Amino acid sequence: MTDSVNLVIDGKTYTLPVITGTEGEKAIDITRLRQETGFITFDPGFGNTGSCLSSITFMNGEKGILRYRGIPIEQLAEKSTFIEVIYLLINGHLPTLEELNKTRVILNDSSLIHEDMHIFFQNFPKASHPMGILSSMVNALKSFYPDLKNNDNLIKNFLNLISKVRTMAAMSYRYSKGEKIVYPRHDLTYCANFLNMMFDSPVHPYQIDEDIVKALNVFLILHADHEQNCSTAAVRVVGSGRVNLYAAISAGIAALWGPLHGGANQAVIEMLTDIHKNGVSIEDVIKKAKDKNDPFRLMGFGHRVYKTYDPRAKIMKKMCDKILGKISKPDPLLDIARQLEEVALTDPYFIDHNLYPNVDFYSGIVLRAIGIPTNMFTVMFAIGRLPGWISQWKESMEDPNWKISRPRQIYTGLKENNYKNIQER
Ligand code: ACO
Repeated sequence: MTDSVNLVIDGKTYTLPVITGTEGEKAIDITRLRQETGFITFDPGFGNTGSCLSSITFMNGEKGILRYRGIPIEQLAEKSTFIEVIYLLINGHLPTLEELNKTRVILNDSSLIHEDMHIFFQNFPKASHPMGILSSMVNALKSFYPDLKNNDNLIKNFLNLISKVRTMAAMSYRYSKGEKIVYPRHDLTYCANFLNMMFDSPVHPYQIDEDIVKALNVFLILHADHEQNCSTAAVRVVGSGRVNLYAAISAGIAALWGPLHGGANQAVIEMLTDIHKNGVSIEDVIKKAKDKNDPFRLMGFGHRVYKTYDPRAKIMKKMCDKILGKISKPDPLLDIARQLEEVALTDPYFIDHNLYPNVDFYSGIVLRAIGIPTNMFTVMFAIGRLPGWISQWKESMEDPNWKISRPRQIYTGLKENNYKNIQER
């Protein structure tokens, strides 16, 4: 097995070490490249750049594999709960019954929000996007819940944040509707509690449906981590300046908001709604997506890493069929989604570009069926991704070789230039 490679620059050979991961992926270690050769690498979008060693999530985009701490996503989606996955990601192993119960108790105990924070929620303009509110509120948590230092307390702090983000997400929805907030309940499970906080009303008490609770668990599990994606990279980069956890997570939420990342689930529903409302044909949509002169992209298709069907999309598609079958409510958007998928999967452009449905293609339809409003979709993604961000932040803080993130650049501006007095310009 190669443990080093040679780089020849102007006739001089430099030997660079090779790092091999547990699944056999290889990286050329260039940490001394600039010092020894004066060169840097150039990789916009970081598609070829490994930024850390990580033992949290493994994915293989060519084979469509995703595993958390070695456990395939398919097994976790079928057998596990979101609480178990939170524990798994943060601690590195599945919890025993005692550890699981302890986690549940901490999540329950920390589910309330400081009453002084309510005033913030009440004063955001009603049209505010919930992602903006959530990002600001998570940053504000630092003032209300100062960091704790020792490890036991740190885990409590993580669970505290996870529990509060769920409560704050439901609160922002209730306030945006002009409705009274619903407090968390000690007798409900994590996901059932969220649904109750979102939808319970004095005139229509919310009926907990275990299939809907399971669907929400699966949705959150599928989104719980995805190694060094845009928002996780943001959490690590911002965290590398040694800011507090809340500020780093708030940066992750802001990064997730974008339509090319977590905002895609909302963008998919908006795209399907547009097609439905305006009666656009599937052929025209596909044609538009392929047109180089048109910025339109087929939302929910394509992925930086997956060059085959996203394994999460397969699970989400099944969940979609199950939930829609159960509530026996036909969704015209699902029909459009199915037709788009069918055409795109056989179209040479999509085949040549390795463009397959990603998780967001079906997750929006599942969330709609559960009753989650479209502008809350990305917030749902954030609730799911939180344990991933936290685990990655923790891993980075514990890394003895961690450095502040500070990429280089190749300057392409003017050469040295003289200041001109204003009269001479
Ligand atoms: N529709 C049409 N064409 C596409 C699409 C799409 N959805 N995605 C990529 N392409 C084309 C590009 O036009 C480009 O074509 P070219 O090489 O002929 O110029 C080629 O495929 C490669 O595209 P890039 O943007 O270079 O691929 P990258 O890996 O940088 O982008 C991304 C990945 C951002 C996800 C992209 O596929 C996209 O915009 N998809 C739609 C938005 C989306 O669904 N995002 C969710 C991602 S999953 C997540 O974050 C949870």
